[in-house]
Amino acid sequence: MSPQAPPQPAGVRLAGTGMAIPPKVLTNDDLAEMVDTSDDWISRRTGIRQRHIAEEATTVRELASTSVRLALTNAGVEPAELDFLMVATLTAEMCCPSTSARVVAEIGAAPAGAVDLSAACSGFVYGLNMAAGLIRTGQYTHIGVVGAETLSRIVDWNDRSTCVLFGDGAGAVIVSASDNPDQGCLYQSMASDGNAWHTLYCARTEEDLPDDRDGFSGVFNTLQMNGREVYRFAVSTLQQTITEAIEGAGIRADDLAMIVPHQSNQRILELARTKLGLPEEKMYSNIDRYGNTSAASVPICLNELMEAGRLHEGDLVLMVGLGGGLTWAS
Ligand code: ACO
Repeated sequence: MSPQAPPQPAGVRLAGTGMAIPPKVLTNDDLAEMVDTSDDWISRRTGIRQRHIAEEATTVRELASTSVRLALTNAGVEPAELDFLMVATLTAEMCCPSTSARVVAEIGAAPAGAVDLSAACSGFVYGLNMAAGLIRTGQYTHIGVVGAETLSRIVDWNDRSTCVLFGDGAGAVIVSASDNPDQGCLYQSMASDGNAWHTLYCARTEEDLPDDRDGFSGVFNTLQMNGREVYRFAVSTLQQTITEAIEGAGIRADDLAMIVPHQSNQRILELARTKLGLPEEKMYSNIDRYGNTSAASVPICLNELMEAGRLHEGDLVLMVGLGGGLTWAS
């Protein structure tokens, strides 16, 4: 048998995107009937006007499968051509098996590799970075990266400080090899600070709680958050991460066609945008319609931008995720 030629480094392209949003809408006014809040408070403090909520029978796996099927179609890639799939989620159906293994089977991509990724709201950007690196080696041709969440299942619907923020949905991209070795990721970063884990957590038992029970609403298996601490972290980290990525890529902010940030709070995005002196249309936001969908937010934004014809081959796009862990990535 003649030895195979070693794989050649390949360029990397975003070949297609997709998304899946459950149809049921929960408006701020609906929430005001459930907890002591108002449309005025939520929209002024967060920019959120509504969020989508998965029906009881809808699983995170279904949302992930639908989004990746659409991404494959838009990429012109057959499921059987997929080499590997990552599903970033903090609301996996089970801890075993992974959501991704079942998605691969459901969409007809078996025996493609499959792994779930847990980095909260940064999960999709972490996955995209890894996919870009794997494609670059020349050993993989098509990798799917999905962000999918059913956060409504881990929200304490009596806790007004968290329940107004989150929504459900999924987004996916297909990352493919390109003949142009210059095409691909100019810069990437992945970071964490586990010392601050207790600012955002989902405790299963008493043993999981931080010593001072920081921010604990009293309900296990629901998201607990020290909103002010997370806000401070998000404001400074978003600005710093964007600045580092621009410097690391050796470009100017003006060169960017779009910044696609994790959708956590419109005020956080606005502070970063004005600090960088960027026009409104260069910092994508859809938080008014979906709320914070954690790992799903960046790929949902990407899909909307693609569908609207606002991104083109050769455009420079900066994606930023930040969230529980704490974690952040660009
Ligand atoms: N409706 C009405 N009042 C409320 C609500 C609500 N839904 N929630 C809190 N309040 C009250 C508080 O009780 C407080 O009242 P008090 O002054 O009488 O004590 C007052 O509003 C102000 O509360 P703050 O927490 O200081 O309000 P703030 O302006 O900081 O906004 C918010 C809160 C929106 C949660 C903000 O801190 C934030 O966005 N933090 C970041 C959240 C985030 O992004 N989390 C996820 C990121 S990571 C990830 O995506 C997984």
